[in-house]
Amino acid sequence: MFKILVIANWKMNPKAFKEASELFETVKKAVKKSGDIKVIICPPALWLKELRPGANLSLSLGAQNCHWETSGAYTGELSAQMLVDAGAEFVIVGHSERRNYMGESDEIVNLKIKAALRSKLRPILCVGERAGEEMSLVVEDQLTRDLVSLSVNQMKEVIIAYEPVWAIGTGNNCLPDNALSATLFIRKTLTKLYSRFLADKTPIIYGGSVHANNENDYIKQARMNGVLVGGASLEGDEFIKIINNLSK
Ligand code: PGA
Repeated sequence: MFKILVIANWKMNPKAFKEASELFETVKKAVKKSGDIKVIICPPALWLKELRPGANLSLSLGAQNCHWETSGAYTGELSAQMLVDAGAEFVIVGHSERRNYMGESDEIVNLKIKAALRSKLRPILCVGERAGEEMSLVVEDQLTRDLVSLSVNQMKEVIIAYEPVWAIGTGNNCLPDNALSATLFIRKTLTKLYSRFLADKTPIIYGGSVHANNENDYIKQARMNGVLVGGASLEGDEFIKIINNLSK
């Protein structure tokens, strides 16, 4: 139904463009132009334009954030349209680091999703519980608020990333059985909010301490459509292993 999505969230890394361009080239060599895998690299937005010539149908670029307005007096911010102009096709929205450190509320996440869609950027919406919280309560609440008043046609563009906060950057990845519960729960919630048809069509991916050797658990056991990789996407060899393991 979908290609498997392998999304790299470089966050505020690497330290300099030279390393970024080398990493991008390394990944590019490993990505097959045809095949079942689509790789999406989300570098710091500053470098999108320079990496853009290397993108192709199987290797796209994404941004890590966008503003909710089209333009205006928002010092330091980038609009969705600017990111599109620089080469982004996707944008991560609602990452837990932005929710935690930048105080992003669900209302803001919702506005950002709409801004992205207006500019034809596909949003990758991150949801997930913190340690000690109930997955279903948090995920249902986030999905309900973050997707407020999105039409069916808009929803068709949205990718959902289940990222339990306690699994991000900790080495403590979610057990495949628990990830399967999250997949089923997200599809159930989307069915309630939209329809079974749309719920089945929405790509759901997993993020949180994905590395080479656990990536396939999320596709095969947890029935997800891809992975969102942070730390391991900064190591060329490890990231390529993830891509290759998923191609088998
Ligand atoms: P991690 O990060 O792979 O380093 O856990 C994932 C993410 O934050 O998207």
